[in-house]
Amino acid sequence: MLKGRSLIEPGNFSLEETDSLFAIAEKIETDQRYLRDSCRGKLLATLFFEPSTRTRLSFEAAMLRLGGSYIGFADPGSSSAAKGESLADTVRMAASYADAVVMRSPKEGSALLASRYSDVPVINAGDGGHHHPTQTLTDLLTIRRLHGDIKNLTVGFCGDLRFGRTVHSLAKALARYDNISMVFISPEELAIPEYITRHLQKNAVAFTETRSLEESMPKLDVLYMTRVQRERFFNEEDYIRLKDTYVLNKEKMALGKNNLIVLHPLPRVNEIAVEIDDDPRAAYFKQAKYGMYIRMALLSSVLGAV
Ligand code: CP
Repeated sequence: MLKGRSLIEPGNFSLEETDSLFAIAEKIETDQRYLRDSCRGKLLATLFFEPSTRTRLSFEAAMLRLGGSYIGFADPGSSSAAKGESLADTVRMAASYADAVVMRSPKEGSALLASRYSDVPVINAGDGGHHHPTQTLTDLLTIRRLHGDIKNLTVGFCGDLRFGRTVHSLAKALARYDNISMVFISPEELAIPEYITRHLQKNAVAFTETRSLEESMPKLDVLYMTRVQRERFFNEEDYIRLKDTYVLNKEKMALGKNNLIVLHPLPRVNEIAVEIDDDPRAAYFKQAKYGMYIRMALLSSVLGAV
């Protein structure tokens, strides 16, 4: 069903297709032999024009666990992009060597552009402040595994909602599920973009915007914390002023439900105190591991191995 398909934003896959990926990922989680070696002989290109730990390493780990191999770069300075080669040419080359391309770039729209120059599936691993669809699959899988289903939930997003691409992708994706309401918690300067709120209104999704994390805590089933995205600020002073607006600590966690789950795409800087890591509601490290399972499910599907 997904063989040969690119993934540029979460809406590219139907709910049914997304569910099929969750089912594969859950099978991989419970049976580590499932799909092992299913991608033997296949090659993945990982083109990272921006730093990454989880996304790149989990894609590479996923490909190796499926029996495939990978090529690529983690630093564009070591590629011919540093000599002025265009993205189109770089992608054409990678697509002629590999069976699928995973790409991260600081420029919005770059993954879509890349997919137009590629004969093999292109997977968007983050394009500027725009989308991060495999993080969204990770987030949805984590919610499904820990809350049992993706419906009848109040999801709070806290922090940098303006530049946080994971927030944009997840809010749009959650709008497709039943009875999800959203609470956007941010300083005014980092508010959720209007194109997202317009999308929610159009799809009759209930949402509120607030500055107060404390007042929001008791209502939430999921709290999605985010880092203030230093690299997307135009000036350092604004970043310094806003970076510690929200710090989730024990006092704030005490206001949350017993079955709250706290997610964070990571990396975190200061917005979740380390003291929270031992709280059973802190699910962000588990979430990062689900990221590898869902990427295994995705790669095996787009490469036609399942
Ligand atoms: N969540 C995420 O995208 O992490 P990395 O930037 O480390 O890949």
